[in-house]
Amino acid sequence: MHEEKEIDETKQGEALMLEKPENGNGKKLFLESYGCAMNFSDSEIVASILKDKGFSTTQDFFEADVIFVNTCAIREGAEQRVRKRLTEYRKAKKTNPDLIIGVLGCMAERLKSQFLEEEKLVDIVVGPDAYRSLPELIEIAETGQKAVNVLLSKEETYADIAPVRLGSNGVTAFISITRGCDNMCAFCVVPFTRGRERSRDPETIVNEAKELFEQGYKEVTLLGQNVDSYLWTGGGLKKENPSAEELAGATTFAQLLEKVALVNPDLRVRFSTSHPKDMGDDVLYMIAKYDNICKYVHLPVQSGNSRILEMMNRGYTREWYLNRIAAIRRIIPEAAISMDIITGFCSETEEEHKDTLSLMEEVKYEFGYMFAYSERPKTLAERKYKDDVPAEVKSRRLAEIVDLQLKHSALRTKEGVGKVHRVLVEGVSKKSKEELFGRNSQNTVVVFPKKDYKKGDYVNVLVTDCTGGTLIGKSID
Ligand code: 5AD
Ligand code: SF4
Repeated sequence: MHEEKEIDETKQGEALMLEKPENGNGKKLFLESYGCAMNFSDSEIVASILKDKGFSTTQDFFEADVIFVNTCAIREGAEQRVRKRLTEYRKAKKTNPDLIIGVLGCMAERLKSQFLEEEKLVDIVVGPDAYRSLPELIEIAETGQKAVNVLLSKEETYADIAPVRLGSNGVTAFISITRGCDNMCAFCVVPFTRGRERSRDPETIVNEAKELFEQGYKEVTLLGQNVDSYLWTGGGLKKENPSAEELAGATTFAQLLEKVALVNPDLRVRFSTSHPKDMGDDVLYMIAKYDNICKYVHLPVQSGNSRILEMMNRGYTREWYLNRIAAIRRIIPEAAISMDIITGFCSETEEEHKDTLSLMEEVKYEFGYMFAYSERPKTLAERKYKDDVPAEVKSRRLAEIVDLQLKHSALRTKEGVGKVHRVLVEGVSKKSKEELFGRNSQNTVVVFPKKDYKKGDYVNVLVTDCTGGTLIGKSID
């Protein structure tokens, strides 16, 4: 598993900093994000919108005029964390009664104005497609009224907004390429909170990548709920049956990858998340074709049993999934593969759980993100099935899956010992100031003595040792 996680669903909130804008309005924003990379990327759009209105940021919510919390609704635990955080903001409201508290993101979209009834201290509730209206919503809240905008859009991609890079290491950055999701996996709240799938104009994506490279960034991660489904035919919702003419002028995900890879050979390209039902060989050949497209595929499986996959509405079977894994191994032999797994989904039997373990044995993933099933209101599973696997069975199965993954991660990491890895340096190692850390193409963290190297350098590192998930070595340049 990752030591420095790229996308960490369980991440605690992170307060994000913004430079002081030139035409400040004197108001201070405290902006905190929970959940997935897409949420962190959205917060950069929110920061951009408010910077334009003269806001600066603070990392101390006691001195803020506005507190925004960008929330996650994927599991109940994520929501509970946000509720707990709100109780801390209450203290700030006591010392500053004019303080405005806004809830953004998936939890805002899920609960809508009900949020205002449940949490009296909240003034603003805004869904992921309504961030352009934030300045007006703040104005309304300043008059003492509550303000809500949870409209979902069929077009919004924020393509024209230049995100303000927050909490950035100056080396790696996220670029959103799609918004929303049309898949309707039975367990998932995302299609309800983020709406229908829309692809973003490839020209704006490539321009964003170019600008980042010019500013010194060396790696971009293209973000979408299902990147393989990316299809640009001129904007709006994805066409069910695009005409031959529309397809001729379209950009697919594989083509988009190529366009971004061509920005510069020294700009690494990553992407997340791939979907097994949509990931075609064209994408894999494109990854193989360019050295700067990272040899790493995050391919959530969710379960190793075809009956459960069918109930989850994932659109593939165990065999289909394993066939996709075989295609990755055939076309990109050096690729690392990671997964998401949900354990204890409705009616999952012990045998079916074992199918997940056996699939893991077959693949031996480099990394994994594993979760106990958490029933979410309004989802297909909540309406159709009973959440009938007892909590203690879910946690025991989860522990078995996590244990096995730890074994596989250690095994895969060990395979990297004795080899030279090209590492992009992201910063100073947490454990020692004398060491740097970065990642190889496969997304494994590599630690090595600093010498004269710095953040943003590519360094060839001969790996001589490892821990469970980290490679250790020395530069050979
Ligand atoms: N319960 C547990 N895990 C979930 N995920 C999505 N919805 C749920 C849920 N209701 C997991 C899936 C997905 C990842 C982002 O979160 O594994 O791939
Ligand atoms: Fe949720 Fe499935 Fe869409 Fe992923 S692909 S966001 S799991 S509905």
